[in-house]
Amino acid sequence: MNDLDSLVDAARAEFAQAPTPAELENAKARYLGKAGRVTDLMKTLAALAPDLRKARGAEINAAKGAIEAALQARRDALAAAELEAQLRAEALDVTLPGRGRATGGLHPVSRTIERIEAIFASMGFDVAEGPEIETDWMSFTALNNPENHPARSMQDTFYVDLKDAEGRWLNLRPHTSPMQVRYARAHAARHADAVAGGARMPEIRVIAPGRTYRVDSDATHSPMFHQCEGLWIGENVSFKDLKVVFIAFVREFFETDDFDVRFRPSFFPFTEPSAEIDIAFRSGPLAGRWLEVAGSGQVHPAVVRNFGLDPETHIGFAFGMGPDRLAMLRYGIDDLRLMFEGDLRFLAQFR
Ligand code: DAH
Repeated sequence: MNDLDSLVDAARAEFAQAPTPAELENAKARYLGKAGRVTDLMKTLAALAPDLRKARGAEINAAKGAIEAALQARRDALAAAELEAQLRAEALDVTLPGRGRATGGLHPVSRTIERIEAIFASMGFDVAEGPEIETDWMSFTALNNPENHPARSMQDTFYVDLKDAEGRWLNLRPHTSPMQVRYARAHAARHADAVAGGARMPEIRVIAPGRTYRVDSDATHSPMFHQCEGLWIGENVSFKDLKVVFIAFVREFFETDDFDVRFRPSFFPFTEPSAEIDIAFRSGPLAGRWLEVAGSGQVHPAVVRNFGLDPETHIGFAFGMGPDRLAMLRYGIDDLRLMFEGDLRFLAQFR
């Protein structure tokens, strides 16, 4: 092996051991730099005779070429290793399951109210909404429930120590029944001119779902709950119509004919006669148990008067039901409080 071969070998070995590009460049300088060993060899040519110089020059150039090739090979290898390390560090595991976006869904009570609205809309009922902070007059007095009357304690009302701009006491409405008054008065006002001109007033047919509040909390009562009021007033609307409409509603709502209905005599200040509406399924887990689903009755003449209508010519019925209770029956939920705790494990079942 001549001196040039060992030089090339030494360079190869040093390059191969350079662990980083920076150290490789230092090694390169030791061979190919200005004071490098190849450069030193070149300088020795000057002292040689011309014919020897030519042969020696060619050999040195060949060795230089071999060293440069080794350098480039090592550079490429280091760059490839670096790239591979980077790829490994940033590797994506494409076999991981994806993170799906969870879909939301309507709350069971919202679904129930939408269902109630759709069914009554199909029977020609309008849908109305009204304030949850209500005046004492709307919540009670207009509904034939005078101040200091014991029937006021039928509802454990949240009274608010606050009056509205006109000095009327306010409360959190304990039922949606004030919507009867609000809607009927607006309806009467809307048609007043036509009626004064001799036209007949169109019938009032409305449901009014919404939040209601009472001082009450256990497995079947929540301080905030929902009601849906119904009102149908015309010139000749009877208790029979109430039965037909309500039974049709129950059939649609529960998608079955397999139930019995009873109208159980009761008392409400705003209706006379009054009835609780009970249903009993003939089959299924609740078979044979009477379940109270609504209060109802023929609207009291004093209330019709507060609608701004003449009870001699306007008659009809009202009912108030609990969408929460209907949702519990429809979905088999046994504790009302579950519905308002916001627990996703419960709610996700209704997506
Ligand atoms: N407002 C009554 C309650 O909360 C329910 C009710 C009963 C509504 C009879 C009515 C009705 O419209 O006619 O207990």
